[in-house]
Amino acid sequence: MEYAQLLYHHELTPQSVVVYFLVQTVLLITIKLIYNIYFHPLASYPGPIFLVASDIPLAVYSLLGTSQYPLKAAHDKFNIYGYKKNGGGRANFPKDPRFYNEMMLGKETITLAKHIGRLMAQLEKHSAGGRPVDVREWFTFSMFDINSDFGFSEDMGCVKNGTKAAMHHTFKTPVVIDYFYAATLLHQCHKFWPLNRLLALCIPPSTRRMQVNHTEASLERVRKRTATDTDRYDFMHYFLKQANKEQLPTKTIEAQASVVILAGSETSSVAETAAVYHISTHPDVYKKLQKEIQTAFASIQDIKLQDVLKLPYLDAVVQEALRIHAPLANGFTRWKHVPRGTVVTINHYCSNTSASNFRDPTSFIPERWMGEATYADDNREVVQPFSVGPRNCPGQQFALCNIKLTLAHLIWRFDLTLGEGTENWEVGQRIYNGWIQPALPVLMEKRVEW
Ligand code: HEM
Repeated sequence: MEYAQLLYHHELTPQSVVVYFLVQTVLLITIKLIYNIYFHPLASYPGPIFLVASDIPLAVYSLLGTSQYPLKAAHDKFNIYGYKKNGGGRANFPKDPRFYNEMMLGKETITLAKHIGRLMAQLEKHSAGGRPVDVREWFTFSMFDINSDFGFSEDMGCVKNGTKAAMHHTFKTPVVIDYFYAATLLHQCHKFWPLNRLLALCIPPSTRRMQVNHTEASLERVRKRTATDTDRYDFMHYFLKQANKEQLPTKTIEAQASVVILAGSETSSVAETAAVYHISTHPDVYKKLQKEIQTAFASIQDIKLQDVLKLPYLDAVVQEALRIHAPLANGFTRWKHVPRGTVVTINHYCSNTSASNFRDPTSFIPERWMGEATYADDNREVVQPFSVGPRNCPGQQFALCNIKLTLAHLIWRFDLTLGEGTENWEVGQRIYNGWIQPALPVLMEKRVEW
């Protein structure tokens, strides 16, 4: 019997079957929404109904790179964030601060000075004649070079050549943020089991390839470095020592070490760019910082990392930049005692800019880190841009050294003024794990001959 005849026999028409399935689908969706709102194990947690009822709205915001804004509105209204001192998992990376002291302040201090000197020379050259320089781009070059050199003893030469061609050539992605973008798309697809595989097929192959290429290129760098006998005290030197002690399998070593470029370069350059923007838009802050740096160092040769790290106002400026513009703004997932399968994250952007944690939460005020009485009640412990617990950032000290030394040189050597079109630079920036920062053109006038 033909299918149409069968339907006819049961007095069903093709139209009624379609209607039947539509009604069933709508019913199922309605039941799921009601379940999510009233009966889900997390239903007791407060939140805006459109985010509680379904994962779809947040996934759409995430794909647009704007999830931080509805999340911040929700946090501001419902005060639902928490702060936990010890996350789960096992530390695979050497996180002992002594290792950074040994590397940054001892054996490799010249390497860092060399990179920063190179960056300053390029900034000087490209800003000559009052031309604006996109610091966002140059900081990305610089951090990429520094992280490759310190990570795997490979100098990519992006600053030297003034182009990201080396980055593109080696990692086959124009910038690290493209990897983050691809990761965001995949993450959103995986939330919608059992449709996850189907949805993942909608991701353009070129985007998927970017992620695969980057992972493969990073792995290649790790393997090359592991096979090389060198006397460099780079990140891999310490990591391999630690991995040996913990008897980690090669696969774990490779997987962990390959994230260094990814984790370290974009994050640090985002923080530096944000710091320059905020310094340049706050003349009082700028004057104070300039005075501190220029008083501390009589010449370029005097600008030594160990002394830069002792500058209190520079420290406050960097802390404030990391508060207001935390590079990994949406945070990373953690497990805690909530129903199995629940993804838990602390959103840095929301907690760092919440009025329940900070007075004038969206204003750039380094003084809140300097013990000023007006800001005595600020909940400064909430600011954890490097995360907390055993899986927090092993590159924290390294990143702070790079950022502070770069800023110290920059402020010592140049007078900075923001270029045209930067008025609303910070407004509406998107996030795909990392920030998509637009160009930040800056006019740089040499203060003195050096
Ligand atoms: C301002 C700069 C940086 C920020 C804000 C930052 C932030 C973070 C955060 C929040 C995490 C934790 C992710 C989680 O909770 O699971 C992390 C992990 C990590 N970071 Fe950073 N990071 C920065 C710079 C660096 C640098 C320079 C390096 C490399 C030397 C680095 C290497 C890593 C690695 C390898 C991990 C994974 C650690 C693990 O899985 O145990 N980061 N980073």
